[in-house]
Amino acid sequence: MDSLNPAARSCVIDRTSRARQKQQRPCVVWFTGLSGAGKSTLSGLVDRRLFELGHHTYLLDGDHLRRGLNRDLGFTDADRAENIRRAAEVACLMADAGLIVLAAFISPFRAERRLVRELLPAGEFVEIFVDAPLAVAEQRDPKGLYRKARRGELKQFTGIDSPYEPPEAPDLRIPTDRLTEEQGRDAVLALLARRGIIRAPAP
Ligand code: ADX
Repeated sequence: MDSLNPAARSCVIDRTSRARQKQQRPCVVWFTGLSGAGKSTLSGLVDRRLFELGHHTYLLDGDHLRRGLNRDLGFTDADRAENIRRAAEVACLMADAGLIVLAAFISPFRAERRLVRELLPAGEFVEIFVDAPLAVAEQRDPKGLYRKARRGELKQFTGIDSPYEPPEAPDLRIPTDRLTEEQGRDAVLALLARRGIIRAPAP
């Protein structure tokens, strides 16, 4: 398929066969939002439930990738773009292998998120906007990073002195300040079922 990257094209067994063996439709579910919005929590809950339902999944998370593959990258606009580019390549390869990939990255720029969508066949990129107002994310401050950023000890912090461009037409928006964690999880699962990516989960 032309939209796939060269590494993906070089596979001898095609992605449809791999997906069929796993009895699932591969895709990349991309969680974007501010630090502290709830991306890791929500993607983790979705991952667990998909696993329980017998799906083969993998969770990619900004904090984790930045300790390994992306440890040479910081938080300039250029480094964030490169962070997302590499994460997207990894996610696409995993989808190619038949997995349902959950990816949780701030991914603040629309242009980079659009590039991820374009790497994948139509319908295999699902964008979830994990939406909490900045004030709420800042109050949660699970890692104390907003406090540091406000004190000027951490530069280029998203929402403080680095921009976040909210999705204009996400596949789904989860307002984490108004839904419980379980409601958010179930809304994502319901969307995946409507899209035919998973069977409808039992109520
Ligand atoms: S992204 O902007 O490049 O998509 P990514 O999701 O990989 O970011 O990493 C974000 C995580 O890095 C945050 O959850 C936070 O723990 C940490 N972090 C450290 N410095 C910054 C910063 N300046 N801006 C945002 N997140 C930061």
